[in-house]
Amino acid sequence: MNSKQASGLAIIGGTGLTQMPGVSKIREHHPESPYGALSAPVEEYEVGGERFYFLARHGHPHSIAPHRVNYRANIDGLSRLGVSQVVAVNAVGAVHPGMPSTTIVLPDQIIDYTSDREHTFFDGTEEPLQHIDFSWPYSENLRQSLLGAASQMGLTVVPRAVYGCTQGPRLETVAEVQRLARDGCDLVGMTGMPEAGLARERQLDYACVALVVNPAAGIGHQEITMAEIEQAIAQGMGQVRNLLQHWIQARGPSSV
Ligand code: HPA
Repeated sequence: MNSKQASGLAIIGGTGLTQMPGVSKIREHHPESPYGALSAPVEEYEVGGERFYFLARHGHPHSIAPHRVNYRANIDGLSRLGVSQVVAVNAVGAVHPGMPSTTIVLPDQIIDYTSDREHTFFDGTEEPLQHIDFSWPYSENLRQSLLGAASQMGLTVVPRAVYGCTQGPRLETVAEVQRLARDGCDLVGMTGMPEAGLARERQLDYACVALVVNPAAGIGHQEITMAEIEQAIAQGMGQVRNLLQHWIQARGPSSV
């Protein structure tokens, strides 16, 4: 029997990252959750002797819309597997004009514009009501650790930003993006919440690695096309994977 255990780390991959090519897949897990089915089986990988879990947020094949992802089952299921750290990968639009496509950003704040998503474990029915602190939605330890790995690799990343999470699946209007900018958002995506809040409710360390795949509506002065998004993913997601692989090996087992 192999005595190695997967570490308490999970990567949640979003659009453009539905698996981890280049690393060895060990097995799949099917954790059960009272909150329902996870988006996909949880895959266990090994890179450089380090094990981690991977979950495709939008399923296999990529088909679950952002507002239909069962975020509660995903976070609860990972927590039941023994996960204590989650790095989420999210494709985003840039509200900030200085973040061109393929820029990698580690946000440090969130504004939640979503509605009608199952967004809490603590609504007083399934689990007792609790008001958790969410002042700093991302784990600063995880963020700094990822930033350190990027710097070791000589990879330029934007070290902080405000992620505005919209309901989707449609993209925003120009006026909506102008409002996001006035609110202080730098990025716009559809999957950052309620995932981050649920991770905090389950006391998981959680950080986001965001890849800019388009200028948000009105920022690029052109309509947004799927072709440009796909091109940015093709050009940029490899660097996100490199960063994660380098970080997983550099951080070693002791930091789990
Ligand atoms: N808006 C919202 N979500 C997104 C975008 C966008 O422009 N690009 C990628 N995800």
